[in-house]
Amino acid sequence: MKIAIGSDHAGFKLKEAIKKAFPDAEFVDVGAFSEESTDYPDHIGALSRLVRQGGAERGIGICGTGIGASITANKFDGIRAALCLNVFMAEMSRRHNDANVLILGARVTGEQEAVAITRTWMETPFEGGRHQRRLDKITEIECGG
Ligand code: RB5
Repeated sequence: MKIAIGSDHAGFKLKEAIKKAFPDAEFVDVGAFSEESTDYPDHIGALSRLVRQGGAERGIGICGTGIGASITANKFDGIRAALCLNVFMAEMSRRHNDANVLILGARVTGEQEAVAITRTWMETPFEGGRHQRRLDKITEIECGG
């Protein structure tokens, strides 16, 4: 599975740690490439576009709190970005919401927890059924409904 990954300066170190923790995953890194100050919409926008256009199946976005990254990613039609603070949220974001973008807050979540969250999010399937009906309603809203 191809995963687009991006962060701002605040998320840079955690982005590198996540890539290192999953050496077999196929990451497409859209930056940032250092801790030099940068704007999260640039990188989160790039990864969201990749996922929306099918250049990556899923995405991982990281900023300081995860809030700016979430706001940005969820502006894109077809993106279901979930800010996950623990493993339970990661599991539910996949089972119930079919989250195709995982958002992490590097200033609120430690590296070990972030890796556990990412593993769960990568491995947990979507349950479908009644949850698909709810996602269809979100799609209707995206289309101006
Ligand atoms: C950058 O200082 C910080 O504002 C950003 O990483 C993020 O937390 C925004 O939501």
